[in-house]
This record gives sequence, structure tokens and C-alpha cells, in this order.
Amino acid sequence: MCGIVGIIQQTESKIGNEIIEALTKLEYRGYDSVGVASVANGELIIVKDEGKIAEVLEKIDLDSIKGRVAIGHTRWATHGPPSKENAHPHVDCKKQISVIHNGIIENFQQLKNELLEQGHVFQSETDTEVLPHLIEQFLEEEKVSLEEAIIKTVERIEGTYGICVISTLEPDKIFCAKKDSPLVIGINDNRMFCASDIPAFLSYTQEVVLLHDDEFVTISKDNYEIIDLKTGETITRKPYTVSWKPEMAQKAGFPHFMLKEIHEQPNTLADYIRIEQPSILKIAEKIYEAEKVFLLAAGTAHYSTLTGQNLIRRFVKKPCSSVIASEYELIKNLIDEKTVIVPVSQSGETMDTIMAIKNARELGATILSAVNIVGSTVTRHSDEVLYLYAGPEIGVAATKTYTAQTLAMWDIGLELGKISGELDNDEYEMYRTNFKNIPSIVKQTIVHNEARANHIASWFAKKNSSFYLARSLNLQTAREGALKMKEIAYIHSEAYPAGESKHGPIALVEEDYPVVFVTPQDQTRKLIVGNIMEMKARGATAIAVLEEGDKEMEELVKWKFEIPKGYSEMFSTIPYVVPLQLLAYYTAVRRGYSPDQPRNLSKSVTVL
Ligand code: AGP
Repeated sequence: MCGIVGIIQQTESKIGNEIIEALTKLEYRGYDSVGVASVANGELIIVKDEGKIAEVLEKIDLDSIKGRVAIGHTRWATHGPPSKENAHPHVDCKKQISVIHNGIIENFQQLKNELLEQGHVFQSETDTEVLPHLIEQFLEEEKVSLEEAIIKTVERIEGTYGICVISTLEPDKIFCAKKDSPLVIGINDNRMFCASDIPAFLSYTQEVVLLHDDEFVTISKDNYEIIDLKTGETITRKPYTVSWKPEMAQKAGFPHFMLKEIHEQPNTLADYIRIEQPSILKIAEKIYEAEKVFLLAAGTAHYSTLTGQNLIRRFVKKPCSSVIASEYELIKNLIDEKTVIVPVSQSGETMDTIMAIKNARELGATILSAVNIVGSTVTRHSDEVLYLYAGPEIGVAATKTYTAQTLAMWDIGLELGKISGELDNDEYEMYRTNFKNIPSIVKQTIVHNEARANHIASWFAKKNSSFYLARSLNLQTAREGALKMKEIAYIHSEAYPAGESKHGPIALVEEDYPVVFVTPQDQTRKLIVGNIMEMKARGATAIAVLEEGDKEMEELVKWKFEIPKGYSEMFSTIPYVVPLQLLAYYTAVRRGYSPDQPRNLSKSVTVL
């Protein structure tokens, strides 16, 4: 949560546009308040307010923000509600030191009490504000350098942090520290950057240095020095070039990132298929050899792991469970060195997932992850990584990364089927051909269903509640569709196994109540007809995602989304979710909400 960015340029000049441009790329991480600090003419300039960047921009003059260094923050509130006072950056009493922070300082109350006793005056309710005051305290009390004071401060704090500090005392440097919150450096001939995520500086540079936990960095206009805080040693780490292109972090003519990302799916899925990853075989072998397998993830990523769970059960006939990362405690006593954990994550920074895999690793488990962000924390705690190659996903609601995660599960599943002998050569090749056709099926699905989604959304947008029902494999499709509707259109949507809906949820159904059914032509097809009839008998309006040409189903429902024929029904969880992404998107837009920045959410959930 929270996006942080710092920029150093060659001279002391205008820097407001650059820092806001970078912050805009990080707004998916939090957007309840925004703030910038720079040092100009030997003084700190602080501009901050409650609201999204666009709202705050109306009240400030960007050209007035000058400096050689600047830091910026876009907030997702934890300690203290969204307000101008609680917005970062925070400063010390003398207004010489300014700090932005992503994470949580767990011992802030104790530190704040100590600092209050020393006479420090606080302006906000945040945990972060202890940092500039603590740095100030070390400077005064111990007469150390600014760098030493920041290091001493970092040594006193407990919790998670990505921190950037600027000061009038050294107006040409940015000091950063990291623990369990992401921080990367970007290097360009004219500017140096630090940020929570690469898209912040992608329009300037693709040269990136990843920072690790317990590292401290001093960045100057043409250099960076990394210190390992545990050993005190200087670390040499060369930049690497990311494959992401600057336009990947732009909307490319689409009104929202979410719609762009839905449309990108044929390409992202094709990229995943095209790029060979040697880790796939190692991952499949290790899962095959393991005694116990747990897939671990949160939110949308969790739904993708349900495909993994079903495939492992099917192709290896091994007990295997998909576990919500925050419920890891429930399986903790089952973990040992014969256990494989498969964390799946877009960001690789979800704290629930990270904490679970760190513990599982300590207990001897092997960690085999599927992650989108290269070098993220989950990848660094993994024995093998399968990358999703979905590119940057800026919309808070996951779309292209969900289908990439599900495809990755299939990739693993097919290799497992081969190793275990559950799939003979012909079957394996047939599935692989189907696998390669998925991008084209998804493309046709978008073309066939976008206008319908927009049309149905005009009716859906007036509703307050809905059900998403499916059976078997596509229960996760229903869950993901309902989650999308909840998180961006704010319509309460509950996914349920269709067969189970009569055991309680049906009580909510009344005249014109929306019920979305996912009905591929598989073994569940006959039974789900009965469930549609039950719902309609109570007045429900039924919508189905069905296979093209399924006349019987078409007649049962008021509206349909059609999925093209011509691929194995087993892969249905990928194309069948796409109309539900579009339906949620258009419903949100028709209700007047911003799908890219839904209220109360952050793309990267770095708190427990
Ligand atoms: C997706 O639409 C959600 N915003 C959320 O559920 C997300 O999938 C979850 O927080 C997990 O994130 P991760 O994939 O980055 O670990």
C-alpha cells in the first residue's frame, strides 16, 4: 500500500511535473491523499493534501515545486484517516528533514511517547511521523551525520518499511531503507529515481536496481551506494534492463487501465506461451515428488490457484489444497521438508503471502512460485519461480494477471500430467495445442461480448445485490466475476456453488434479482439447468456465460455472453471469466465510479 517515489536531477530547477508524473503511475497503490517535498534555496518545500492526485493538482502550482531532489507519496491510510495533516511527507520540528514511508511502524507509539517527552511536537496521527523526529533526535543528541542518524533510526524501528528521506542538511541526496516493502532504483543519465514500483520511472529509464530487505541506500545525482544494514558492508549491485516498455504504463487510448488490461489479455497470454521458462519442468518435478502440496494466495490470485489445485488432484492424484494466505495458520502444523508450497501473486508483495511462505520455508518447505513482478519479495523467498509475463497491471482490479496466473496453473498441470503418466503423448499434445489457442479464443471472446457487457451493465448498474453461480471448475470463475463486481461497481455479489444455492442463499432471490450463471458444455451442464429453473421460479433474472450455439441455454436466460467453440472445455476458466470482467467494468462506469481506483482498495496489500 502507498506509493513512494524520489527523484534527483542534475540542477536545482523545476521538479513538480516529474514527481507528479511518477506518482501518477503509482496511484494504484493508494489514493486517499498525496504529497511532495523538495529542497530549494536551502529550505524544504512541502505540498500535500487529502484526495486523489487530480483533485490535489487543482489546488497547487506544480511549477512552484523546485529542487534538485524531491520525494512524493500517494497514501492508503492505515494510522489516521485521510487528511492533509496525515498525508506524507512528514517533517521534523525544525523542518529540515522530510520522510515518506510505505509500510507500518509497529513500535511507533512507544517511540512517539519517548519523542514527546523530549519535547518533539507532532502534527499528524501517523506512525510515519516518528521517523523525521527520531532522525532529528539522533542528530542533536549524538552529533552524528545525517546518514548515521537515519541508520540509527531504522535500527530502532520495528515493522515494515520502504522509506525515502531528504533534508536541507544534504540537499543533493536521497536516503532510502527497505524492509518488507518494495523499493527499486531507476538510473538515467539525467535523473536518478527510487520508487515502490518500476512504472513510476519507466518513461525515463528501463535500467533498474532492486533493493533487498535490510538495505540502506544513498542516492546522489549520478551514483547510488547500497549498505547491508546487518553487516555494515557496502554491496555492489549492477542495474539490469527490464523488458517492460514505457507505453505499457500508459492508457494507450483506453479510458481506463482496467479496460486496456482486459484487451491486452490475448497478447499477455501469448507472451506467456511464447517465452520458454526452464523452471516449469523443475516445478512440475518437485510438485510430483512432494508428499503434500499447498497453493497459497490472496484475492483474485487465490481463485487462480483453484485451477492449480484441481489439476494437481486430477493429474497427480495427490491431496492438494488451495489455501488463502491469511489463513495459513490453519495448515502450519502440516508443513515440513516434504511439503511444497506454491504461492501465486501478481505483485509478489502481498504481505499475507510473504509471511506465510517465510514461515513455511523455515519449516523446511520448498517454495515454487508463480509471480508477475520480477525480483519481488515472493520471488526472493522462492526456490523456483514461474513468471507470468503479463506486464505492468495498473488497474487495481486484477484482470490480465488472473488469466495469466490461471494459464500458468495449466502449464504446470500439463507437465504434471506428462510426468505422472496421466496424460499419454497424444493427449498431452492435444492439450498443448488447445493451450496455444487460448489467446485467440480470448480475443474472440472480447470482440463478441464487449457491447453486450455494456448493454447488460445499464440494467445491472441499478441493482444492489447479485449471485454468481457455477459448478465444478468454473466456481472460481463465478467467484472472480463476483469479486470484480464487488470491488469496482460496489454491488454486493456473492458467488456460490450452483447446487448449494438452494441450501440458503436462494432466500434472497426476488423479482428481477440478478443471477449470473457460468455454463460451459461440460459434465455440469445438465445439472445447472435445474439450478437456473429454481432461480427463475423465484423471479430471478438469469444471465449466462455459455458456449456459442447452446440454444437450450439461450432460451433459459434473459441475457447471454457467448464463448467461441473449438477448444477443450477443460480450459474454460480462462475465456469464461472475460465477459464477467467486462460486465463489472461497464457496470462500474455506468454507476459513475472509477474502475482503476476503487474506494478503500490498494493494488498491493502490504499489511497483514
Ligand atoms: C484483485 O482484483 C484484487 N484487487 C486483489 O484481490 C488481489 O488479487 C490480491 O490482493 C492479491 O494480490 P497479489 O496477486 O499481488 O498477491
